[in-house]
Amino acid sequence: MNVNIMNVDYSTKIPNNVNLSEDRQVLKALEGWHPGYMNWWGDMGPEGFQQSLVYLRTAYSVDPRGWAKFDYVKMPEYRWGILLAPQEENRVIPFGQHYSEPAWQEVPGEHRAMLRRLIVIQGDTEPASVEQQRHLGKTAPSLYDLRNLFQVNVEEGRHLWAMVYLLQKYFGRDGREEADELLRRRSGDADSPRMLGAFNEATPDWLSFFMFTYFTDRDGKMQLHSLAQSGFDPLSRTCRFMLTEEAHHMFVGETGLARVVKRTLEVMKETGTDDPEAVRRQGAVDLPLLQRYLNFWFSSSLDLFGSEVSSNAASTFGNGIKGRPDETTQYQDHVCADATRELELPDGQGGLKNETVGMRNAMNEVLREAYVKDCEIGLKRWNMQIKRAGHAFELRLPSTRFRRAIGAWTNVPTDLEGKLINREEFERRLPAWIPSASDKAFVNSLMQRVVQPGKMAAWIAPPDRGVNNLPVDYEYVRI
Ligand SMILES: [Fe+2]
Ligand SMILES: [Fe+2]
Repeated sequence: MNVNIMNVDYSTKIPNNVNLSEDRQVLKALEGWHPGYMNWWGDMGPEGFQQSLVYLRTAYSVDPRGWAKFDYVKMPEYRWGILLAPQEENRVIPFGQHYSEPAWQEVPGEHRAMLRRLIVIQGDTEPASVEQQRHLGKTAPSLYDLRNLFQVNVEEGRHLWAMVYLLQKYFGRDGREEADELLRRRSGDADSPRMLGAFNEATPDWLSFFMFTYFTDRDGKMQLHSLAQSGFDPLSRTCRFMLTEEAHHMFVGETGLARVVKRTLEVMKETGTDDPEAVRRQGAVDLPLLQRYLNFWFSSSLDLFGSEVSSNAASTFGNGIKGRPDETTQYQDHVCADATRELELPDGQGGLKNETVGMRNAMNEVLREAYVKDCEIGLKRWNMQIKRAGHAFELRLPSTRFRRAIGAWTNVPTDLEGKLINREEFERRLPAWIPSASDKAFVNSLMQRVVQPGKMAAWIAPPDRGVNNLPVDYEYVRI
């Protein structure tokens, strides 16, 4: 990619509300970082569509009444901006040992390493998902979906900018080094992988993409809500604005899966059977297959919240760095100095034990529970669709104990309900619980590119409406 950095006026090229044109040092750091970002986008961004005109939303302000504009843009020319929610006057730290003290406008020395690490971890997920999704354009089920994929991609790119801005502005030299490292790691790379497991999984097909935006991006949403509580005010403001965009990513996942269900139900009605083979013969996704994908993506995403009992979680909460998603509205006790909670955990001998742990140490679990609740909302809607069509089938979230790779339940064999079973039974039944090789091959066989405006692939129903009040058959991408 040819990026002439000499001609770029960064202070006006980068939409921002952080007064970049007067902040020489940060501007210089961003100028230094930008060519590497463009190279990364060229190498790892959406493959085959860099010259296409895409009808995209670009954030240019943080005014809730109008913060974005829609227009055709070539993705490499997208204006990735740095936007923070407006500073709240006299904001105080809403939790932890610094509860009700003024929020920090600079990084407190004693929390510097911990804050940097959290920002880097959040930042690392943003380019990771772009990398995971880079081949999906080739098999998009419609122009509408293709456009939504690219919208998510450019916004994850902007989220990377948001984290890099914080690193470069507030963390000096090591912040700049971390910013460079964010462009060096690669999803799924054996030598230099992304930091979190689910962000190294392949997202090879569109069913996985919708599962990813529903389950994995939703982890992102919960993390952003928690960081939006942070005592470090610039981080809080950054995350609050990112959540504005994140709502669209949730929408893509939820409506994407709803449209898959809708199409499947149509096929079941047309053929008069719920036999998976018959559904597949019509080129749709049978509901049991959908359940297996869901089991896989939900359990992978649960690991992102970390261990049930965690001293790290205790210190990020205790030190006012990362709160609970609804810190100000859901809880009475914001300090949790003496509070405890009960956890039922495996005892290491095939049984269970009850453990009482400090509430601060259980914060990962508190977050995970909030996440599970949030995940259930979509399932209720999809199940309503299924029920209304007259079928007894119900999609369900597996137990949070099922197939875990991080935390107390790592490698503890359970069934989908979380009941402890022996290893042999687990191994025997697992293929029926997560996508098999033939499931994946079948899904792969459905992935045919559809590019006529308004046309949909056979496995997914059209959306109820188009983007930004435009019709569904609008030419959202000019290839
Ligand atoms: Fe993001
Ligand atoms: Fe996202």
